[in-house]
Amino acid sequence: MVNVAVLASGRGSNLEALLTAQQARRLGGARVTLVVSDRPDARALTLAGEAGIKAEHLDPSGHTREAYDERLRELLATEDIDLVVLAGFLRILTGAFVRAFPNRIINIHPALLPAFPGLDAQGQALAYGVRVAGATTHFVDEQVDHGPIILQSVVPVRPEDGSDDLSRNILETEHRILVDSVRLFAEGRLSVSGRRVEIKGDVRYPGTPLFVPEVAT
Ligand code: GRF
Repeated sequence: MVNVAVLASGRGSNLEALLTAQQARRLGGARVTLVVSDRPDARALTLAGEAGIKAEHLDPSGHTREAYDERLRELLATEDIDLVVLAGFLRILTGAFVRAFPNRIINIHPALLPAFPGLDAQGQALAYGVRVAGATTHFVDEQVDHGPIILQSVVPVRPEDGSDDLSRNILETEHRILVDSVRLFAEGRLSVSGRRVEIKGDVRYPGTPLFVPEVAT
């Protein structure tokens, strides 16, 4: 079994997708055994509680980043965590924490990295005027939204899309690629070499190219 800790600051829909997959036995040998939030009112904590999973509010107030991450690292060690998933965790982890979990922290980001790292990636994408957006799962390194890419999904941007529409469409694909990434990890099918992640076994891609615009003559 691969014990997974999910760190989340808010809504927790990605956590919910992982829990649904776990119940349906679509998470390989992974199981979420701990949920941690820096915010006491995070829905992610409620979801964890309802699912009978240990839920911890780790309060950052009065702690340096280093001290906070050290408490977090100790908690994860006590709980025997093998994989950390960042699902909307609004804190940047220290280098010391990242080094304690080499290629064992997965982040989900609502953009096609390396485009639009950081906050409000969907808003950044719309403001830039892109025609396609998407989501990325990646292993976490010491730079923000930067480590080796595991999976990406592509979402077309329609002219009428506002930030809410685009966020909703991206979120739907986030849930899929995050579940698949955790499963691939748990099945031992991911290996990292430099920036590249090799996925062992069968991965099927729907017809390519998918999003070539058809412009009327
Ligand atoms: C998602 O868009 C994720 O990509 C980003 O934060 C959001 C978290 O959403 N890192 P939720 O809390 O999982 O619903």
